[in-house]
Amino acid sequence: MTPLKRVLIKKDSAIKPIWLMRQAGRYLPEFRKIRNKNQNFVKLCLNPKEVKNITLQPIKRFDLDAAIIFSDILMVPFGLGQNVEFRKNFGPFLGPISIEEIKDFDKKSFNKKLDPVYKSIRKVKDEEILKNKDLIGFVGGPWTILVYMLNRYSPKNKLRKIFSDKLLIKDMLKYINRYISLHIQNQIKSGANIIQIFDSWAGLVEDKNLDEYIYQPTKILSKVIKSFKIPCICFPRNIKNYKDYVQTIKPDAINIDYNVDPNKIIKNIKIPIQGGMDPKILLSSKKNLEKLTNYYLGVFENHPYIFNLGHGVLPQTDPNMIQYLINLVRKFNERSS
Ligand code: CP3
Repeated sequence: MTPLKRVLIKKDSAIKPIWLMRQAGRYLPEFRKIRNKNQNFVKLCLNPKEVKNITLQPIKRFDLDAAIIFSDILMVPFGLGQNVEFRKNFGPFLGPISIEEIKDFDKKSFNKKLDPVYKSIRKVKDEEILKNKDLIGFVGGPWTILVYMLNRYSPKNKLRKIFSDKLLIKDMLKYINRYISLHIQNQIKSGANIIQIFDSWAGLVEDKNLDEYIYQPTKILSKVIKSFKIPCICFPRNIKNYKDYVQTIKPDAINIDYNVDPNKIIKNIKIPIQGGMDPKILLSSKKNLEKLTNYYLGVFENHPYIFNLGHGVLPQTDPNMIQYLINLVRKFNERSS
């Protein structure tokens, strides 16, 4: 059994595997080289040859325990015919789309538009270098995808008014979820053997709307993933009540963000936990990194835990610091085995 599956399925706390969100990304010179030659980010995500190379870059460099397919959560809006661009120093920029367009969208055209993503997964999955490692597929949570589709750029920039129209939100979530579910199934059928759901904007939802906007739609997805006997990791960023979330959605693990107190979370939830450490620590010194890494490893010593961060690796990160972090985690594993 792979290291991640030992934690996720066997609930083994004797091993602490490691992979990192955005492990393939701008902090790697070999990624920047490919990115510079491919100005259009969406097109790059649809290029199976390059996607395979990029997905394997961090594995070749660092020997992590899992690869995550190089793609983006916004490939689902793209698959639904919405224009998706990534603008320099601004981030995602989406075109307009109406609820009717989503409702009536043809599943065959969705599959066709995203076929290169599935082709990439098929190309990567049997690589020798991934022996005893997992290949993680992923989607955005229904709420987060809705936020990008309606707001059309990151809420960091500005949040549009539409978010008071409850009926529109409920209907949109229902329609969007069919395609997120399809995207999950296609990735699993192509060879992804763990699925992570990134709900980056879960923290925007008021308590009174959590059940309708987050719990119920995400529960449908976790059920789909479970029906394939594939582990499901959820990352509801900035959510307040993890206990309710876990009880309703029943994921196999929760990725925590860096605002979560690790000591509190192990008292609240019993399922495996992933991540938590602030990626900014990687911009600091080796000494600080060692201290915080050992803190997380210590708190989770007797809890099933996958080492990861509380958000993605920052572009300014020195790859040597990533290597240092991985060595620390490996050393901890040797000490406790
Ligand atoms: O983790 C991985 O290595 C796999 C690939 C991956 C990417 N995006 C590649 C990417 C994953 C899992 C994502 C998830 C994603 N994408 C999320 C959820 C996690 C989170 O960050 O909250 C979100 C919200 C998005 C949407 C998105 N894509 C944003 C906001 C941006 C801009 C970010 C920025 O720093 O400019 C992207 C672009 C993106 N997706 C990049 C990468 C490597 C950077 C693109 C570049 O090279 O310019």
